[in-house]
Amino acid sequence: MSESWIYIKDLVKHEGQKVTVKGWMYNKRSSGKIHFLQLRDGTGTVQGVMVKKEVSEEAFEDAKRLWLEASVEVEGIVRLDERAPSGVELTVTALHVIQNPTEEYPLGKKDHGIDFLLDHRHLWLRSSRQQAIMKIRERVIWAAREYLHNEGFMLIDSPILTGSIGEGASGLFELNYFEDTKAYLAQTGQLYAEAAAAAFGKVYCFGPTFRAEKSKTRRHLTEFWMLEPEVAYYDHEKNIELQENLVSYIVEQVLLHCRKELESIDRDITKLEKVKAPFYRITYDKAMEMLHELGSSTPYGDDFGNEDETILTQQFDKPIFVECYPKKVKAFYMKEHPENPDLVLCDDLLAPEGYGEIIGGSQREDDLERLLARIHEEGLQEESYDWYLDLRKYGTFVHSGFGMGIERVIAWICGLDHIREAIPWPRTIYRIKP
Ligand code: 4AD
Ligand code: MG
Repeated sequence: MSESWIYIKDLVKHEGQKVTVKGWMYNKRSSGKIHFLQLRDGTGTVQGVMVKKEVSEEAFEDAKRLWLEASVEVEGIVRLDERAPSGVELTVTALHVIQNPTEEYPLGKKDHGIDFLLDHRHLWLRSSRQQAIMKIRERVIWAAREYLHNEGFMLIDSPILTGSIGEGASGLFELNYFEDTKAYLAQTGQLYAEAAAAAFGKVYCFGPTFRAEKSKTRRHLTEFWMLEPEVAYYDHEKNIELQENLVSYIVEQVLLHCRKELESIDRDITKLEKVKAPFYRITYDKAMEMLHELGSSTPYGDDFGNEDETILTQQFDKPIFVECYPKKVKAFYMKEHPENPDLVLCDDLLAPEGYGEIIGGSQREDDLERLLARIHEEGLQEESYDWYLDLRKYGTFVHSGFGMGIERVIAWICGLDHIREAIPWPRTIYRIKP
């Protein structure tokens, strides 16, 4: 085995040289005298052309016997080829088979059903479409962190095992935490981000969050990643501005760095090019009015259903903020609207083209008495929130923040039919494997 090798993405820099590539054979075509070996190594793909009379007899026979996804080390000379995706082709001079599978690759044939693909997620990730989506995922996360870092935000992690309910008692994963203590898997890191905002000003947390919702929609996972900025002295308006700037930056960066990936999954790029701040803003009241005109039967005062989000966002070509929801459909920590005690100072950011909610945010209730009243109204245990209430006792402050569901953003940017393709290992009510 060769100790040094070149990654496929870098082959263009080695024109005319003899190099070694290490990877997997994802496809093969053969005629009697030539094998076309399609190779991939995670950084790209390249065609290796093996001509019978130019390699050892053994190498040519080995190549003939290769099954899909055999791991191989291929030595060859780099030739420029404008038509090739990597810009080059390899004229193979030697082949070392690391492992040739003893049976047919399960995902070799086209057109597998979604359950079969999900059962084989560990192999499905090798496909070009899944690789494109995962590369976009990486860029979305990178861009979000870069934006926040450049804006002076500090990353401060929140715990996954918690004792305080963040988003309401339904949808909690509960577990026994020694003796007779209950713990929950975090639904949100927000409450901790609020404490951190009082310590550091502009902060965010980013990690996996959990919801035991029995939702079987194309938008719900039981484990998903949430990015949660929280800013001291930001009000509702400043919060909105931060959200639209962050989302615009993410889309801009994906367009800049992942155009090839977007094209490979057939995303309509012109739709993403329109995504620039400022976004549209409507109130909950106005959104309800529109929904009723569009034929929805959801009563005023209720939260939107999945179908409502779909039809509402099909009306817009950019993300839409829906602001000031009724207090009774939102979490306990949101600040009461100064002009209408039935509403809260919050926003949901809905992605266009039928995608729906990607962000939930709000100004936080900073008044101790009102916050306590809301905790009681929601039937939450005051004792579990004593530390959170301290934030209102020791230098309370206007502050706002939001949570952006990373997989929702990826599903929208990639134009996916279902959120499960936006995360490497999807967790849904019926799936915890692989
Ligand atoms: O609107 P949510 O529930 O808000 C919160 O958790 C706040 N504590 C966040 C904050 O203010 N710091 O969730 C925020 C976002 C949603 O807009 C959505 O994008 C995503 O998290 N989300 C989910 N994504 C996938 N599957 C689920 N089951 C999700 N539930 C929420
Ligand atoms: Mg929400």
